[in-house]
Order: sequence, then C-alpha cells, then structure tokens
Amino acid sequence: RILKRQTTWRNDINMLNAPLLALFESLIPSDEEKVKQKQLLTLLEKLVVKEWPDAVLYLYGSCANSFGFSKSDIDVCLQMNLGGVEKSEVVLKLANIFESDNLQNVQALTRARVPVVKLMDPVTGISCDICVNNVLAVVNTKLLRDYARIDVRLRQLAFIVKHWAKSRGVNMTYQGTLSSYAYVLMCIHFLQQRRPPILPCLQRMQITYFVTVDDVKCAYFDQVEKLHNFGAQNGESIAQLVWAFFHYWAYCHDYANDVISVRMGSTLSKRAKDWTRRVGNDRHLICIEDPFETSHDLGRVVDKYSIRVLREEFERAAEIMQYDTNPCVTLFEPY
Ligand code: CTP
Ligand code: MG
Repeated sequence: RILKRQTTWRNDINMLNAPLLALFESLIPSDEEKVKQKQLLTLLEKLVVKEWPDAVLYLYGSCANSFGFSKSDIDVCLQMNLGGVEKSEVVLKLANIFESDNLQNVQALTRARVPVVKLMDPVTGISCDICVNNVLAVVNTKLLRDYARIDVRLRQLAFIVKHWAKSRGVNMTYQGTLSSYAYVLMCIHFLQQRRPPILPCLQRMQITYFVTVDDVKCAYFDQVEKLHNFGAQNGESIAQLVWAFFHYWAYCHDYANDVISVRMGSTLSKRAKDWTRRVGNDRHLICIEDPFETSHDLGRVVDKYSIRVLREEFERAAEIMQYDTNPCVTLFEPY
C-alpha cells in the first residue's frame, strides 16, 4: 500500500477553523440539559437509598467527563458494599425498584460483562444505564475531565473526532471498532505528542490525587487549574490539529510495534507489554493502553477485518482534510 504522506497542511487550512468550531458548539449539551441530568440522578438516588442506605450514585462516562454530546444517554454507577451478593442480583432488584416508580423501558441485563439496568425517565426524556461498583470508570472519568480542563483544544478535537467516528460508523465496539473512551484517549495521546506539547502527562507529575480501586492504584496530578497555560507555547489551531490527528493515525502511527499510552505520555513497544500476539480474543491490532488498568488494551475489540475499516477511514479523513474542497461536510458524510 502506498501511503500519501503529506508533511504539512494545505495553505487554506485555517479557513476550516470557523466551521469546525461551529460544529463543536452545536454538539455541546445545554445547561438546561445538564440540570435535567442532575435531576434524574437525584431521583434515582432517592429510590436507591431507600433500599441500600449506604449506597452512593456517581455519574461517569460522557455525561461527566465533559466529552458528552447533547441528547446522549447518561451512565450511572451505583457504589455499595455488596456483602457477598452478586451484582446481577442487585441489578434485578434495581429493575424492580425503578419499575414500580414508573420509570419506562426498564431492562436488567444480568448476563452482560458489566451487568446493567437500563431505563428511560419519562419526565426528562433521558435514558440511562446503571451499573454496580464500576469505580474504575468513575476514576477514569475524572482523569478525562481533568485533561479537558487544561486546554480547550482537547475538548474541541475530541468532539469533532467522536462526531466523525459516529457519522462514519467506526464507534461501535460490538462491530470491532473503537469506543468513545478509546477515541478520547487517542486525542489526549496525540496532544501529549505535539511539539511543543499541548497536554502534559498527569500521571508522571507530582501526585495530588490518589485512590486504590480493585487493587489498581490510580494516582496523578489533579490540580489542573495550575496548568491552564500549559499548551500556550503551541499555537496550533483546531483545523491544524484535526488535520494532524488524522494524518497521525493514517500515516505516522506504527501499528505493528507501538502501543499508545496516556499514562506514560508516549508510545510503548508492544514487545514490552507482551502484546505481540493474539491471546484469546485480544488481537492487539491497534493498541491503546488503559491509563489505570494497564493490562487492558482498548483496541482489543478490533479484529482483522475492522482494523482495515478503521485504517481506511483514517486515511480517507486525512485525504479529505488535505484535498477536499468542503471538508467540513465530506468528512462527516454518512457511510
Ligand atoms: N469505559 C471503560 N473502559 C472501556 C470502555 C468504557 O472504563 N473499555 C468507561 C469510561 O469511564 C467511559 C465510560 O465507560 O467514560 C463510557 O464509555 P463509552 O461507552 O465509550 O462512551 P461515552 O464516553 O459515554 O461516550 P458516548 O456515550 O458519547 O459515545
Ligand atoms: Mg455513554
């Protein structure tokens, strides 16, 4: 395969800033929506605490990591002392509680890898998934949110990338493409790699936040308000970054040998992680290390077929950003 690797962006690249920023603005949830999400959380909390007084509910995922689109579902984690009870049992009980309080479309998925209850609140119209004791997800949600507070360009880039991935059908883990969580980590890694860097590596700085969850130590510098000037040395615009992001994944990333690691702020070798061959269902065709569960490759869902789809989509996007006369439309054309 011949890679058409461009070394720099088109002359008129900065004409794309305004439309890309307008797109970003159009995807942000309104304050009103945020209030409704909190309302629903409060309602659920009231119902849950009646049954389990020591339980706490946390928002996680896109509604709490600041990478959520308008009108998206919310992810909730119920934290409680299980005392030997199975998660699937708790999920069934939750479903009963919610059903008798007139919440709609209540479903308990007890056999899923992460057992969840799904429901829709007819008052706010918001759908939500509730899982039990998925505390690592709550912590990685905070990490993503903290990164987003350092430089606005992360949130802008990640919204555009997520919108592209959803439009192009490459944001479906059950079809072998990547999760939104994986795309945000790819954006963070990419901004850590810019020269000068736009993001630091929070896990290699002084530790100001520390928790241990399921034997996993989660530690990083979370006083990010002190870092609001971090990326100022780098003046790259959002259009340049979107161009360079796709260029990176199309032509620069070494898929055969490298693992991206937000934890280390760099790439690692697959060899060092022993991710060189297929083990069970983990094929390691694109390797994205989870920042805390470092044995997790978020690319493990990608198979022989979907890696081609993904890489062709990155190449398509890179070419559009380089040559297309109307990239802000073509990039997001439905597949
Ligand atoms: N998550 C995780 N490990 C994964 C996938 C997801 O820990 N392999 C957690 C992360 O905390 C993530 C949350 O689950 O933020 C939700 O992930 P995801 O479904 O990828 O999507 P959202 O960030 O909620 O994005 P959206 O729903 O807008 O697509
Ligand atoms: Mg979600």
